[in-house]
Amino acid sequence: MQTQEQQLRGKVALVTGAGRGIGRAIALAYARHGAAVCCAARSLGQVEETAARIAAEGGRALAVSTDVADFASVERMVSETEQAFGGIDIVVINAGVGGGQQPVEASDPQTWRTTIEVNLIGAYHCAKAAMPALKRRGAGKIIAVGSGLGQRGVAGVSDYACSKAGLAMLTRVLAQELAPAGISVNQLIPGPVVTQMTGARMARDTFAGEWAKSPEDVVPLALFLAAQPEPGPSGQSFSLMRRDA
Ligand SMILES: NC(=O)c1ccc[n+]([C@@H]2O[C@H](COP(=O)([O-])OP(=O)(O)OC[C@H]3O[C@@H](n4cnc5c(N)ncnc54)[C@H](OP(=O)(O)O)[C@@H]3O)[C@@H](O)[C@H]2O)c1
Repeated sequence: MQTQEQQLRGKVALVTGAGRGIGRAIALAYARHGAAVCCAARSLGQVEETAARIAAEGGRALAVSTDVADFASVERMVSETEQAFGGIDIVVINAGVGGGQQPVEASDPQTWRTTIEVNLIGAYHCAKAAMPALKRRGAGKIIAVGSGLGQRGVAGVSDYACSKAGLAMLTRVLAQELAPAGISVNQLIPGPVVTQMTGARMARDTFAGEWAKSPEDVVPLALFLAAQPEPGPSGQSFSLMRRDA
């Protein structure tokens, strides 16, 4: 795998939700820029497909079936990545679900709980499990994929919006806790991207005034954050949106 400038040469990246959509685009891009990449999600076939594409281009990849809502599963993902590649430098906390898409009154409590368990507690699991590995490297980057919906109130997305609002705060807290270890933690807000998650929502006015991106449109910002020279920014939110979140 050759690119003109391999900004991530020698790095190891772990990308959750790498079986499709934004996570797959980021995993492929990081590999093209020289990183060895662990591709994780629940659907093993999908992450194996991402890893196979990386291998076909001459890159190094590992596919791991992981449920980020299950801490033991996340610990196994981290441990398998370290064993395969000798360490971890970059963690992209991207796995997520779109939530119930209902007003609170009509919402299903179990769906609401699951959204929080995947999008927020799953992010906490990934950061917590990866910390020792990042600290062993003496530096590192955590990139959390957030949402503008976590910053403004929109009817009908309470579970998703609350999960992403929590993720924004987790990013800021982690940035302070991990600064002494040289680990930066930032949030990447993609804005609307056409994926399996957004298929139905994209047509609604939730995204009025926005531009509909492909997953590949998120890659330049994801690369920028992963390739920042140390110490680099931390505790910040970087957005691809076109209006106030
Ligand atoms: N698309 C947008 O417009 C948009 C905008 C802002 C933010 N985001 C955020 O971007 C991230 C990626 O979304 P996407 O649009 O690319 O969605 P997507 O195409 O549906 O991909 C979601 C990925 O997350 C994985 N995932 C879901 N639940 C999981 C779990 N419990 N454990 C491990 N992996 C899990 C999925 O695989 P499995 O189902 O096989 O596990 C899949 O690989 C999400 O955090 C989303 O909130 C998206």
